[in-house]
Amino acid sequence: MKHCITALTAILAGLAAASAQLPPCQDPAAPIEQRVEDALQRMTTAEKVAILHAQSKFCSPGVKRLGIPELWTTDGPHGVRPEVLWDEWRQAGWTNDSCVAFPALTCLAATWNPDMAALYGQSIGEEALYRGKDVLLGPGVNIYRTPLNGRNFEYMGEDPLLASRMVVPYIKGVQANGVATCVKHFALNNHERNRHTTNVSVDDRALYEIYLPAFKAAVNEGGTWSIMAAYNLHGDQHLCHNKRFLVDILKNEWGFDGAVLSDWGGTHNTDEAITNGLDLEFGSWTNGLSNGASNAYANYYLADPYLNRLADGRADTATLNEKARRVLRLIFRTAARPGKGPGNMCSEAHYAAARRIAGEGIVLLRNRGGVLPLDLSRQPRILVVGENALRMMTVGGGSSSLKVQREVSPLDGLRAATAGRATVTYARGYAGDAGGEFDGVTTGQDLTETRTPAELIDEAVGMARQADYVIFVGGLNKSAGQDCEDADRASLGLPYGQDAVIEALAAVNPNLIVVNISGNAVAMPWNDRVGAILQAWYIGSEAGNAIADVLTGRVNPSGKLPMTFPAALADVPCHADGRDYLGTRRADADIWDVSYDEGVLVGYRWFDTKKIKPLYAFGHGLSYTTFEYGKLTADRDHITAADSITLTVPVTNTGSLAGAETVQLYISDVKASVLRPAKELKAFEKVYLEPGQTKNVSFTLGRDALAYFDADRHEWVAEPGRFKAHAAASSADIRSTCPFTLD
Ligand code: GLC
Repeated sequence: MKHCITALTAILAGLAAASAQLPPCQDPAAPIEQRVEDALQRMTTAEKVAILHAQSKFCSPGVKRLGIPELWTTDGPHGVRPEVLWDEWRQAGWTNDSCVAFPALTCLAATWNPDMAALYGQSIGEEALYRGKDVLLGPGVNIYRTPLNGRNFEYMGEDPLLASRMVVPYIKGVQANGVATCVKHFALNNHERNRHTTNVSVDDRALYEIYLPAFKAAVNEGGTWSIMAAYNLHGDQHLCHNKRFLVDILKNEWGFDGAVLSDWGGTHNTDEAITNGLDLEFGSWTNGLSNGASNAYANYYLADPYLNRLADGRADTATLNEKARRVLRLIFRTAARPGKGPGNMCSEAHYAAARRIAGEGIVLLRNRGGVLPLDLSRQPRILVVGENALRMMTVGGGSSSLKVQREVSPLDGLRAATAGRATVTYARGYAGDAGGEFDGVTTGQDLTETRTPAELIDEAVGMARQADYVIFVGGLNKSAGQDCEDADRASLGLPYGQDAVIEALAAVNPNLIVVNISGNAVAMPWNDRVGAILQAWYIGSEAGNAIADVLTGRVNPSGKLPMTFPAALADVPCHADGRDYLGTRRADADIWDVSYDEGVLVGYRWFDTKKIKPLYAFGHGLSYTTFEYGKLTADRDHITAADSITLTVPVTNTGSLAGAETVQLYISDVKASVLRPAKELKAFEKVYLEPGQTKNVSFTLGRDALAYFDADRHEWVAEPGRFKAHAAASSADIRSTCPFTLD
């Protein structure tokens, strides 16, 4: 024993000595800020400029001479993108980089469960770590302003509080692995058409109350180590070098200490990039080596042009050091971080996490006569109809596209879940487009169809007559013009003639269940004529198993909509009164000016205030059990701006199945000096209840929950007067209201 202690002491002494010899920038035991400053002192100007821009499609250099590693980024928010060659978008064709596809972030938001966000972040962070990646290019938290936006499936819905509460645990989960999140796309990137040329104007109230909060939470509560600036413009300045957003708001007001990355190709001007807060430039000019000079990376805006300005005194060293400091901090937090684990990939734990998050995020919109869960006690005949029952959804959609180790289709999941207890048959019902490939990743599915739509419908209807249940699995897909980056949908309706198929099936079988797979709201003209509707999102590798879990009742659905499903596109504020959400193109430049005239009235805020009935409301979601809310009470009926109020509502599971209910708390300012939404979500909690169980759900609110943003004073103002708190099962289903006064 004595010898061991002696040996151990010698080893530790040796390590300490060795460590003492290492310069701090190389010493893993040294505090990060010391490593940053030491590296900065040792670096040349050229080395400082070099770390401010990419050297390949997804990585930027470190400082080889000082042993500072390069920084590797990877998409995306739902899983780790397959490896690409040095300067290519297409996959490199490795055979060991297939991943788990986790549910899209609309599904995560629909769980209304921050614990699921933490599980999600931890899991995807482990996959990124295993793949040797330092920065995960996600999550996205752009607010859902139009149901046509091609990338809504990557984001967390229409409400800033829900997005804020869900993004924070995701960030912490990822970064616990020593992998940075890169929260995107900062900011006002709320649709995809003209995404490089859209110049957004919005009043400060809407900016601070709607579009900034989730990013602010990501920075100030989540502590994200990096932010990705958006493609679009504000005030005629690209967000990738926008002084107002990157310097005044992000770094000065919020105190962001991380690095700002450009979106790929989002940088357009060296002087602005230098002075307006961009730290790390990716993707400019090159789309592989074909578009850009052979030394394309030296031509980046923050490369030689910056070096030249420094050399002839047109740029100052202090700004250079500030940028380099932030990039070095990102490197020392990730690539050069000591003690990172090995991570892991495609583990059963990750599949279980994907399935659990999906199961908690699927939303039961309608369940006429309790047609769900399926009754499997009498060997039912189940007909599954629709291309989305077998179409792979993890390939395509843009930069979030993945190469998965497996993806269970809804058809396969249902067959597995009902094996021996039902007969499951299939009819195509409709044919979408071929799809099937993205950046070299192929689905291997041949979706070509030779039959006519009428023949497909006839076949499905014929089979539906003999079935006990018909499960139509349709919706959108990841093709351009649907749920896909760099394009938007042209309308709210389902494509490929699906409405006709659904109507025809409803006419012959009352037990028709529609499973809608989409990242966006869709029109449902057949809503009143079908038995049940599940909103199933894009839920990744375990999709079929999670959908089957809910259909069979193995999982009692508890998801709630993170966005409003409108009855018509014209009911949506940015499409109302003939407005064009794209804005107007300038006569003399390829710039689209759009003004967010609806202000703070986004989503349910508009529907409530304008008294427009949605098809399905924000926060709506049914369960296989029922919940009763008691009376909402407050611990006081008067509060001053300094203290807080605690509101409590008892919730009882009055059904026969265990289930979870997300209790939502909305606040109304009865009389305000400014236009305020009829009510606003200010708290929520998901509670799990056994049959007959009651829980008292409490919310404690401070003045900040009562305040609006006063643009003139540039501060949050809570006006004295009467307020109402509403305990609700959705924004359209208030169960109990409690008045109180702010003195
Ligand atoms: C894309 C996307 C961004 C993505 C990046 C790298 O254009 O806008 O979300 O992370 O480029 O693929």
